[in-house]
Amino acid sequence: MHGLSKCVAVLLLLCFTRRVTSEEYRHPDAVSSGVPGGWQRINASEYRRLVAEHKHGPPKDQPASDHLDAEKRFDEPLRGDRGKPLRRSNYGDDEPAFRAEPQRPRLRRTPRPKLAIPTAPPRPRANFSKDVIWLVDDNTFGLRPADDQSLKIRMGPPPASGSPWPMPRVYQPMALVYQLKSAEFHMHALGFTCDVLETAFERTQKNAFVASVPANAGEVFYSDGRTAVPVIYYLNVTVAKRCDKYPSLRMVESYDLEVKRSGVTIYAQEVWGALRGLETFSQLVYQDDAGHFLINKTFISDYPRFAHRGVLIDTARHYISKEVLISNLEAMAQNKFNVFHWHIVDDQSFPYQSKVLPNLTEFGSYNPKTHIYTHEDIVEIVNEARLRGIRVIPEFDSPGHTLSWGYGTDHLLTSCYDYTGEPNGFYGPVNPILKWTYTVMQRLFTEVMELFPDMSIHLGGDEVPYECWTANPFIKRFMRRNNMEDVKELLNLYEKRILSIISEIGKRQNRRVRPIVWQEVYDDSGQVGGSVGPDTIVQMWKGSGYDLQAMVEAGQKVIYSTCWYLDYISYGQDWQKYYNCEGLTTFEESGSRNTSNLIGGEACMWTEYVDDSILMPRLWPRATAIAERLWSSASVNDMVLAAPRIEEQRCRMQRRGLAVGVLAGPGYCNHIRNTPGAAHNWSYFARLWKLGQRNYDTPSYGQLKNKVYVVDMNAMYLVPLVIVVSICCLTLLSVLQDTSRSRIITFFLLRAPGTSRLGVRGLLYVFLLFAFAWCVWTAPIWMNVWEDTKKPKLSQPVF
Ligand SMILES: *[C@@H]1O[C@H](CO)[C@@H](O)[C@H](O)[C@H]1NC(C)=O
Ligand SMILES: *[C@@H]1O[C@H](CO)[C@@H](O)[C@H](O)[C@H]1NC(C)=O
Ligand SMILES: *[C@@H]1O[C@H](CO)[C@@H](O)[C@H](O)[C@H]1NC(C)=O
Ligand SMILES: *[C@@H]1O[C@H](CO)[C@@H](O)[C@H](O)[C@H]1NC(C)=O
Ligand SMILES: *[C@@H]1O[C@H](CO)[C@@H](O)[C@H](O)[C@H]1NC(C)=O
Ligand SMILES: *[C@@H]1O[C@H](CO)[C@@H](O)[C@H](O)[C@H]1NC(C)=O
Ligand SMILES: *[C@@H]1O[C@H](CO)[C@@H](O)[C@H](O)[C@H]1NC(C)=O
Repeated sequence: MHGLSKCVAVLLLLCFTRRVTSEEYRHPDAVSSGVPGGWQRINASEYRRLVAEHKHGPPKDQPASDHLDAEKRFDEPLRGDRGKPLRRSNYGDDEPAFRAEPQRPRLRRTPRPKLAIPTAPPRPRANFSKDVIWLVDDNTFGLRPADDQSLKIRMGPPPASGSPWPMPRVYQPMALVYQLKSAEFHMHALGFTCDVLETAFERTQKNAFVASVPANAGEVFYSDGRTAVPVIYYLNVTVAKRCDKYPSLRMVESYDLEVKRSGVTIYAQEVWGALRGLETFSQLVYQDDAGHFLINKTFISDYPRFAHRGVLIDTARHYISKEVLISNLEAMAQNKFNVFHWHIVDDQSFPYQSKVLPNLTEFGSYNPKTHIYTHEDIVEIVNEARLRGIRVIPEFDSPGHTLSWGYGTDHLLTSCYDYTGEPNGFYGPVNPILKWTYTVMQRLFTEVMELFPDMSIHLGGDEVPYECWTANPFIKRFMRRNNMEDVKELLNLYEKRILSIISEIGKRQNRRVRPIVWQEVYDDSGQVGGSVGPDTIVQMWKGSGYDLQAMVEAGQKVIYSTCWYLDYISYGQDWQKYYNCEGLTTFEESGSRNTSNLIGGEACMWTEYVDDSILMPRLWPRATAIAERLWSSASVNDMVLAAPRIEEQRCRMQRRGLAVGVLAGPGYCNHIRNTPGAAHNWSYFARLWKLGQRNYDTPSYGQLKNKVYVVDMNAMYLVPLVIVVSICCLTLLSVLQDTSRSRIITFFLLRAPGTSRLGVRGLLYVFLLFAFAWCVWTAPIWMNVWEDTKKPKLSQPVF
């Protein structure tokens, strides 16, 4: 019944929207220019041809007015000083240098009064950008074809405004523009809603309508000065499933997004998909030079390629403050990353506040008063992440990388011996042969796993300095007694114990844990005939594409990060290296069968040479390149096509107040003259907390009534009532009028036998028909309401 009524409703809706779209105007700027952004991509041979042409004029046989134009352009603006006279479109500085001829729109069907484009001031830059040529071969840009290397300049591509990043699976932008007015734009949840969706609305409102030119709420007119570009007022989100509290590896992030004249609609199975859809929507919005917010008619159907798309941040080498971590979460959400891999402790410091083992923090952190993450900090960060659909996976790396643990606990680390057989005063990795070690781990991880709700926890296991173990006489004896020949067996033993401790804690907390370990644990245990167990995920950080293939084919679930170590810096456009990612390409080309075992990848930011002040600009927008490889289809890997879009993504993050770095060399972002920097406060959780921990998870009838303005809920209940009551009344009437059965039947006929008038009864039938149709039309909504009133109220608070 529900499905049927939905079908009918959809059919009616289709008829309706069809009628609406036929009235839309086709934007006359809709020339099919191929590459967005107005610059051209050429190859070496094409380049040589242009150079020759420039020298000798166009080939005689072509009636090329284009070439003549090009010739003129080469000569005109560049007279005199070579670099200078090109004007950038800094809004407000000067009058536009030229005005385009008003153009005429093409109309869909019936001939209408001829109209031209919306009259935003034309951009002087359009003139300039046609002369920019990007040489694919050496990734430089030329202002015009020149065979002299010294005449070429290095220059980023102009940003492609209004383009999404990462590229959706199905993306159909159309050359129809609508206007949005920030004050008159409303977002509604038509299905389930919760705090995740409500804060996402707020964030989207803020992100979509960032005014880099003073916002202009005036109408955009076609050139007849009378016909306004249609304005869109609504964004409706339908989430089909009740919100989960926390994102997980299995969350569904797919969504459909449609921008049309009647409004924007997002349909998602789970709230996490709605988050991704809202982000995409906010990226489609762009501002014209006059400050109007515009959006193109668009259809998008999208889902991620990998379920695990992470960013690793190391907070032990340098302490990274909570505020920077939160603005990083915001940047991650804007790039559709969904895992924050928090490498929280390491050799250098132990900033995690342990309440069960306070001495670990007291003596292991840089400063136990200022340089630690308290439990409140962690709860806040986990919640900021949750509101953006990001999982937080903490990493407590052992047995190596644990020097800082040794300050606060005795007998945890192995003491190292020199060749004379005497302790040399150094400490090595965690001592794997003492019971005490596992007691400490058990206590620590119990606390950690209560604090971090995700099903995964990272246990490290990389770069264990075996020499200290092999030199220690007690460990040597232990190995002899247990018939161990290879020290790797010791690591295997240690990891097995830790993994079983973790799964025990998981069982006690009633959840299935999927631990993650670094590559070495897998490699080393493989060499001594062990394994990491079926539930464990291996993170690869030094293997090639072939190693990846081998691991995947062996049935191991893998996270790949070999080519994405962003702490390494180099001169030039290094995003291309991350975008191409050799290992991943090799893997793709290897034709591996078990590709589903590769569950994702991570961008890694180790902080030996990074602190608060440069974490954001070093990580972003370079990690942005990785975001597209992890989200979009494998075939989206053309760096040249990506360049103007990634440039726009950089500019967009900058406009939204994130302190991002430079990506593609010299260039500029439309409208922005300086970087706002990290001045923005991205904390949502703290504010939510203040709002009295409102529980959005039970959208009651009353709440829904206030949200859905179009349909009056009470009337909806009344209509079936009216129908039933009127049928009863009619039956009663006819029964009272005449007791003969045949009269009752004839009463329900449309016309009384022998007459041809419709009469009152006929009208009644027409009314009933309409009422019934209306019921069917609104059925999905009131069924929803009805279902909702049945649901038991949740008693748990949200946090
Ligand atoms: C270079 O581009 C031109 C036109 O875009 C094309 O005809 C030609 O085949 C290309 N050459 C190579 C080597 O790709
Ligand atoms: C480019 O701009 C110059 C002035 O800067 C103008 O004279 C010229 O007509 C413009 N060319 C085109 C093709 O619009
Ligand atoms: C949006 O529409 C405008 C005007 O028709 C067009 O020039 C532009 O290319 C479109 N943008 C996209 C991303 O399709
Ligand atoms: C922590 O360290 C202090 C000072 O060394 C010591 O007195 C105390 O017993 C330690 N606490 C625990 C729980 O080990
Ligand atoms: C694929 O992985 C499964 C386990 O996930 C394994 O049993 C199977 O052998 C693998 N197949 C191939 C072709 O490697
Ligand atoms: C950010 O905003 C929250 C809540 O609005 C507030 O509690 C917090 O102090 C602010 N942080 C900064 C650095 O202004
Ligand atoms: C979205 O919802 C609003 C109010 O609930 C309604 O007026 C509007 O028609 C809806 N738009 C679409 C496209 O569903």
